[in-house]
Amino acid sequence: MQAISNSLISAGKDAVKGSASWPPPVKTVLRQGVLLCIAVGLPIGALLYDSQMKGKSAQNAKERHRIAGIIRSMLIQDKKDHVACQRLWTAVRDAKEVGTGDERVQPWREELGKRIASTLALAVEGNDSEAVATLTNLMEKEPLSTKYIPEPLRRRLHTIQTEAFRKKLRTVLTLVIGPARAQLKWILLNIFVGISQGIVRSIKLTYYLKAADAARVGRGGVELLEGLLATLVVYVLECLLDVLQKQCANRGAGEISVQLQRRLFARLLTADCSFHEIQYKLADKVYLLREAATLDQKLLRLPIDLASTVASLGARYYALGKMSTRLLVACGLFVPISSWLSTKAELWSTQQREALRHRVECRRSTDSRILGNQLLTVRSFVQERIEAEHFERFLRYKIREESKATVLSAIASLAQLLPLMGRLGALLYGSQLVSKGWMTAIQLEEFVTAHDIATSELNSLKSMVPSLWAAMEPAARIVEVLNTSSSIERGLNEDIQLPPWAQKDKKGEYQPFSVEFKDVWFSYPSRPNTPVLRGVSFMIKAGAKVAVVGSSGSGKSTVLALIQRFYEIDKGTILIDGRDIREYDPRWLRKLVAVVSQRCVMFPRDVISNISLGSHHSGDQGEELKGDEEVSEPHSIPTSIENAAKTAYAAKFIEKLPEGYHTQLGEGGVGLSGGQQQRIAIARAIEKRPSLLLLDEAFANLDASSEASVLQALKALVEARPQTIVTVAHQLSTIAWSDSIICMDQGVVKEIGTHSQLMKRNGIYKQMYVKQTASQKGNRRRGLSLSSIPGSRGRFDLKTQTVSKNDDAVPEEDLAKLPDLKLLRAFTLPVLRRSRSDVLSLCGN
Ligand SMILES: Nc1ncnc2c1ncn2[C@@H]1O[C@H](COP(=O)(O)OP(=O)(O)OP(=O)(O)O)[C@@H](O)[C@H]1O
Ligand SMILES: [Mg+2]
Repeated sequence: MQAISNSLISAGKDAVKGSASWPPPVKTVLRQGVLLCIAVGLPIGALLYDSQMKGKSAQNAKERHRIAGIIRSMLIQDKKDHVACQRLWTAVRDAKEVGTGDERVQPWREELGKRIASTLALAVEGNDSEAVATLTNLMEKEPLSTKYIPEPLRRRLHTIQTEAFRKKLRTVLTLVIGPARAQLKWILLNIFVGISQGIVRSIKLTYYLKAADAARVGRGGVELLEGLLATLVVYVLECLLDVLQKQCANRGAGEISVQLQRRLFARLLTADCSFHEIQYKLADKVYLLREAATLDQKLLRLPIDLASTVASLGARYYALGKMSTRLLVACGLFVPISSWLSTKAELWSTQQREALRHRVECRRSTDSRILGNQLLTVRSFVQERIEAEHFERFLRYKIREESKATVLSAIASLAQLLPLMGRLGALLYGSQLVSKGWMTAIQLEEFVTAHDIATSELNSLKSMVPSLWAAMEPAARIVEVLNTSSSIERGLNEDIQLPPWAQKDKKGEYQPFSVEFKDVWFSYPSRPNTPVLRGVSFMIKAGAKVAVVGSSGSGKSTVLALIQRFYEIDKGTILIDGRDIREYDPRWLRKLVAVVSQRCVMFPRDVISNISLGSHHSGDQGEELKGDEEVSEPHSIPTSIENAAKTAYAAKFIEKLPEGYHTQLGEGGVGLSGGQQQRIAIARAIEKRPSLLLLDEAFANLDASSEASVLQALKALVEARPQTIVTVAHQLSTIAWSDSIICMDQGVVKEIGTHSQLMKRNGIYKQMYVKQTASQKGNRRRGLSLSSIPGSRGRFDLKTQTVSKNDDAVPEEDLAKLPDLKLLRAFTLPVLRRSRSDVLSLCGN
């Protein structure tokens, strides 16, 4: 710095004295300019760097502390499974990323290495292929672990990996060969066109060089014209072949891709619930679908491109050999070394890119959920900042990984220097051949140009190998999904099986059916050791209206899920109309069941499709359940849908929507209020004309303004047709219209009976009832009326439900006294006045 300032000062002095020549020489100006830049730039740069580092370290200190805590708790837990190892590895990596010093990270890495090695030994012993695959992957990422792996285990691992690779290759081949057989003629044509393309490509250069040669040595006229014409014809031919090849590819590989993606989508749709809950989370499914979309490119079009390139290379090398065999052999010796090195480098960077891509896919699906159905939850828990921080952290990780990938691909591109060196060598050796008179200078030039093109084609051939490799992993997983068998669900291609004993009435509709649970034991597949239902037994007669009540988590919704046969039970029997539920095709059964729940799902389609979901208007190819409906014109509104909407008190607001019944709902469409959605769901249930209606907390979470209309709609639904109704509710006030009540607690049916019977029994139901009425009284004392509690206004207050000894019906005058019950009266009374015979048909009564 001192030297720089001295030189600047002396230059200034010289200029002032006029001793220096003016203008100063360019060299001096440049030198002093550079010195000035360094003098000013260095301290500014240092300052900036320092301030950035300070800011970063303050932000990271908190994060370092958090991650260190996580790692310590994981080390204390000492879990010996691959998931725990993966988590520990992620935490150690995060610790490094947020700047935890090596002195802290090193012991963690050592511990992680030991843990990977010991868990791997256990996984190999237990033949757990998934764990072995995860752990070997971790072993590659954490090289410290290799020193803890004994030699025999290493040999065993090598054998396992080779076997796994062979298996993967076999599965991938089966994935492609099966559908490819059906499209064989297009694929063969595609290969043929590809080979022709390769040959034409190589000929094109020969004619072009001939014409250029003729022009250069001044042999214009016919020879030049001939060369140009021939080049033109070959160009046109190449274009035509290109079009033909694309057509063939669309017909062959495109069709195979469509079939493959459809099969995968259908498989995911029809896989058992256990598959979705245990094996494949949403992010995995999104990833697989994306992979399936590009698989045809990697596994089918790639081999055809391969054939085309090989053909082109063959023709080119043949022409090169004819020019000079010696030179070709000399160049050929260099090619394998250069090609091996650049393949290695490319493979390296491709693997890195693929790993990053997978993480980006997972993050994207998380983002879409956070911005979609989880948005309000995020807001209500005031997690916006934390979510934004997670998002930012991921973006920073992505940038870091991308810059790593850039460095890797730069290293890989250094391998491109090798062909250049080969070219120089060819020129050197060729010049000797020219001096000896074995070839002319023009031939040498032609040779080098043609050899360059051949080498670049060879390079493109090599890039196909990593792509094929990258496609193996997702392809193997897709095969795994396609091969999963389902114990409950049937394939989409199978027709819906009609139970031969099922009878339709005169209107062509099925009658309500009975439901019976006999000592049913059930645990969810994701928690097999925790029974959710423990010996549940009850009988619901056909056409009865039954309520299921109980504390949260007692298993009410699970009962409804089992009636729809979403899961296989562990023990006991479920009888539908007196027959084992397993004797029915689950899709047939579900067609006769309608569900209205607290959370209604709107599909991103128009209102008509949302209402007609599952009915004959929805385009289902399954069994036609209702035969006497007229076929509707496209874009016209089916009468039955309009009627269903009217009955569900939804018609008015639907007509006010921007495009009425054709308005798109759901994601990307018009948003509806909770009450409006519920009325659409009720219209859906009315339109379905079910034999069994399941209401799961359909009364809950309604805002006061929509409550009245939803209750009216529910009344209409209940009265729409004879059907068996099962209502799940927390609030006892909402089930007063039921014939009988099943009271559950912790997966066990504690009591069954009518309201009066249960009140007399002095059991759990009475306790619930007393508790709820007491809280209602408390609310009134605190100035909170029933109507001020969200979702409770207008409900039937059990307190006023005076039940006489011999009669379960509620006197009409008592009902009339209820402040908010005018609305409900009409549909409550007929239900409450049902004969006791239905009610007493419950098991044990
Ligand atoms: N998919 C699932 N996987 C594992 N466990 C589950 C699953 N669904 C529910 N459970 C568990 O089963 C038990 C019963 O759940 P269920 O949803 O049937 O209760 P519920 O009586 O309907 O409760 P709520 O009144 O709160 O809706 C709960 O302990 C719950 O944690
Ligand atoms: Mg529930």
